[in-house]
Amino acid sequence: MSRSQTQETQDFIIAANWKTNPTTLKEARALFESTKQKVRTLRNTDVILAPPLVFLSAITSDYGGKKIQFAAQDLSIHKGGSHTGDVSGEEIKSAGAEYVIVGHSERREAGETDEVVKEKTMRALDAGLRPIVCIGEHTRDADGSYLSYIREQIKAIFWGMSKDWLSKTLIAYEPIWAIGKTAEESVTPHALHETAIYIRKTLVDLFDKRHALAYPILYGGSVEPTNAEELVDNTGINGFLVGHASLEPESFEKIISSVEAYAKRT
Ligand code: PGA
Repeated sequence: MSRSQTQETQDFIIAANWKTNPTTLKEARALFESTKQKVRTLRNTDVILAPPLVFLSAITSDYGGKKIQFAAQDLSIHKGGSHTGDVSGEEIKSAGAEYVIVGHSERREAGETDEVVKEKTMRALDAGLRPIVCIGEHTRDADGSYLSYIREQIKAIFWGMSKDWLSKTLIAYEPIWAIGKTAEESVTPHALHETAIYIRKTLVDLFDKRHALAYPILYGGSVEPTNAEELVDNTGINGFLVGHASLEPESFEKIISSVEAYAKRT
C-alpha cells in the first residue's frame, strides 16, 4: 500500500535535536553549514534544526534561506514575568524559531508531567510556535500495555484541543528504551508501523479520521544511516526526530537522502 492510500500525501520532515551540543557557537555554525549545503537539493523533505537555545538567534540571523526551519528544545510554561532562567514561547519565536520540542523524555526525566507537557503545548501554540510533542513508553512488554501508556499520554495532552490547534502540532514517537542507542537496538519497522497505526487510531477517537490520517507523526530513537530507509518505508510515519546522528554531518546527510529518496518514490 502506498503512503497516499494510508494518509494524505505531504512532505516528510526531518528534525534534528542537537541537545546540549556542540559547545561553541563556532562549532554550531560549522554543523549548520553542513546541513545548509545538503538541503539545497531537497524537494520533498523539510528539515528542522533544534540547536541549543543559546545559539539559536545567531544561527537564524546568519541564515537567509527558507529551506531550513528552526526549533527550540523546550519552552517555559510562563508567558513572561519573574521566572529566572526560563525562556518564553514568544522569546523563542522572536529568536527565529517556528517549532519547539515539548515533553522530550529527558525533560520528563527531570520531572515534567503530562500536565506540564500539555500546558507547554498550549503555551507554544499561543505564542505562534508549532509544538513537536514527544511521547513514548519506557519499556515494551509482551502483553501490549505500552500501547495504553501511549494512549493515555496522547489523551492527557490533546484532550479538548481545537482541531485548528491540533493541525499545528506534531507528535514525535520516541520510545525511551530506543533513545541514544544504535540502529540495531532501535525499533523494528514492523513494531513502528503498529505503533503509528495505534497513535492514529487514538487521534481518530479524540478528533476525527480526516485529521488523524493527515497528522504528522515523527519517529525518534537511534535513527541512523543504516536504519533510516527501512524505518520510513511504509511504516506510516512522516519523518524523524534525530538525536546523536544529527551531530555527524555525514550520517545526517545520509538519513536525509534516504528519506528524500523514499519521498520521491511514493
Ligand atoms: P537519538 O535521540 O537519535 O540519539 O536516539 C533522539 C532524541 O532523543 O530525540
